[in-house]
Amino acid sequence: MRTSRSLRARLTALVTGAATAAAAALLTLGAAPAQAAGTPLRDLAAAKGKVMGTAVTGSKLTGTYGEIASREFNALTPGNAMKWGSVEPTRGNFDWAEADRIVTFAEAHGQQLRGHTLVWHSQNPSWLTNGSWTSAELGQLMKDHIALEVGRYKGRLATWDVVNEPFNEDGTYRQTLWYNGLGADYIAQALTAARAADPSAKLYINDYNVEGVNAKSTALYNLVKSLKERGVPIDGVGLQAHLILGQVPSTMQQNIQRFADLGVDVAITELDIRMQLPADSAKLTRQAADYKAVMNACLAVSRCVGVTVWGFTDSDSWIPDTFPGQGAATPYDENYAPKPAYHAIAEALGGTTTPPPTGACTATYSVTSQWNTGFTGQVRIACSGAALSSWKVGWTFGAGQRITQAWNAGCTQSGAAVTCSNASYNGTVPDGGSVTFGFNGSWSGSNPVPTVSLG
Ligand code: G3I
Repeated sequence: MRTSRSLRARLTALVTGAATAAAAALLTLGAAPAQAAGTPLRDLAAAKGKVMGTAVTGSKLTGTYGEIASREFNALTPGNAMKWGSVEPTRGNFDWAEADRIVTFAEAHGQQLRGHTLVWHSQNPSWLTNGSWTSAELGQLMKDHIALEVGRYKGRLATWDVVNEPFNEDGTYRQTLWYNGLGADYIAQALTAARAADPSAKLYINDYNVEGVNAKSTALYNLVKSLKERGVPIDGVGLQAHLILGQVPSTMQQNIQRFADLGVDVAITELDIRMQLPADSAKLTRQAADYKAVMNACLAVSRCVGVTVWGFTDSDSWIPDTFPGQGAATPYDENYAPKPAYHAIAEALGGTTTPPPTGACTATYSVTSQWNTGFTGQVRIACSGAALSSWKVGWTFGAGQRITQAWNAGCTQSGAAVTCSNASYNGTVPDGGSVTFGFNGSWSGSNPVPTVSLG
């Protein structure tokens, strides 16, 4: 059964400053709905003949994660499970369990698979990277690996990212195990070996920061052109698209088109759009526009086969580990609530525009009194057209303030980050009702009003 949008408690936190009395931010949060209203993305994409994929972690493919992965996407990419270090951690000892699990799951749900990735400089087993190999040995190792892995899944994977990230930002070749040992020809050798192992799989070169026209994408363009001219099997280029909020390259469609004009397919293979945390409504709205711009750039070029997101939920994203303080990069939040980005993808794929939330709960922060080193503040949570059975309010102090005491809520502070949850007796906020909690704090220098989120 699909949860109707009206049943989902969409929460809006309205923050006002005590002194300025101006609304500082409007944050819209979903309250853990497992399903989004409307037609699933995979059906919208299929109607346009496009791929709408996601990277997945095999061990998570149950429960809500599995439901969303199967319901919304018509293609899966193993985020890590098919990398060399995953499948052959010690030489000659193979672990296909997670890769097989993803393949089986995809087949059970009528989803395409994108194999990722065969020849890369990262996530290789230490026996390989620490070994001392002659050029001939290295070439044989690479070809044997491709023959084994591609052969294992022959006829079952639509696509392989054969070579991953071969270029530096300036368009020169990245100095890797493969380039240093085999020269630039390792790319042609790898593609040729993959074609031999599974003639029906589409073979790609995949890289990041090649979404717009720039030195790196031009190097990739020139490589693909030369491979085509030499008759080396190459079917497509993958533009990873690990993007930063507000920085979708303006030349993306043009760039996709120039690859298409070479006679290869193009796929957006690892889309995510990261932002400085915490997220707020302005950032999430901007992110939605960015997602839509990427979708539209692909949809505008017939040889762009589709878009894969690099994890569909913020709880399964590589961003926070790699870019501390950044995140919220995927279309679903950590509780599997679809974000504005999700709806933007749906709209780009021709889905109906989702109506705005009918009800909202708001959290208003104010300083009620202030003296030389201390202050008293309060947060009022009010609902209209919506209701809460529990609540949590968070904010980050901007000037070193510290909570010393709170009432009618349990508050903790870690660094500048404060989280306050309802007490046992005031979690319920009925439609049309409100709850207020208070606190004392210390300050010095200034006492600016923080942006508050309600979840
Ligand atoms: O599996 C181990 C686990 O046993 C251990 O306890 C844990 C401790 O840190 O690490 C786990 O391995 C991590 C692995 O992801 C699986 O979660 C690695 O540390 C971590 O480095 C690895 O990160 C992956 C990253 O590639 C490595 O470069 C990300 O999940 C993965 O999303 C990311 O994907 C790449 C694409 O393949 C290529 N393009 C860029 C993209 C983002 O980096």
